[in-house]
Amino acid sequence: MQPKSKHITKINQRVTRVDKEKLLGQKGVVYWMTGLSGSGKSTIAIEAEHILHDKGKFVVVLDGDNVRHGLNSNLGFSEEDRSENLRRLAEVAKLFAENGIIVITSFISPTKEAREKAREIISQTAAFHEIYVKCELEECENRDPKGLYKKARAGEIKEFTGIDAPFEEPRKPELVIYTGKEEIAESVEELVTYIESQK
Ligand code: ADX
Repeated sequence: MQPKSKHITKINQRVTRVDKEKLLGQKGVVYWMTGLSGSGKSTIAIEAEHILHDKGKFVVVLDGDNVRHGLNSNLGFSEEDRSENLRRLAEVAKLFAENGIIVITSFISPTKEAREKAREIISQTAAFHEIYVKCELEECENRDPKGLYKKARAGEIKEFTGIDAPFEEPRKPELVIYTGKEEIAESVEELVTYIESQK
């Protein structure tokens, strides 16, 4: 995407990414979690961040619900708004990763197209790992931690992912975490192990 104005030039930082990665003792990277609402993305992200923090890693979690209170508060859940939501967040994740930070994102990111776009943006400068947090719709609906599925079924929320808006399963994610049956701790362990196995 080109800037709207033609009169924009980039400046170079004096402290380089390598300097920052050396300071932090890690590489900037993005772990992009995708999955239905209630599948456990945020819970896993928050716990993994905690464990990695205790091991001296600098991690930032970007969460859909949180970002929609600030940066993306002007966006809803139409296909167009979700796509803009994810485009901006991919750019934010990229900025963090370029500065040596380990980023774990937690967005439904329901379409293949939006995830591919995120991969395209981030891969320009950082490693991108798509992580499918897999849980059956029935189980997510049973859990319904925020009571949103109930509202969606009652027609009080429109365009709800899995109910009247699509979720396209990732075909070739780098990692799948099956949260339907296993304990949270097990899923967190899988994510942490995966992150620690990356060089
Ligand atoms: S995304 O589709 O654009 O990737 P995002 O992850 O930012 O979605 O936001 C999803 C969160 O917003 C859900 O976890 C849920 O709490 C809330 N939400 C509110 N309305 C909807 C909706 N129509 N569809 C899905 N999630 C919704």
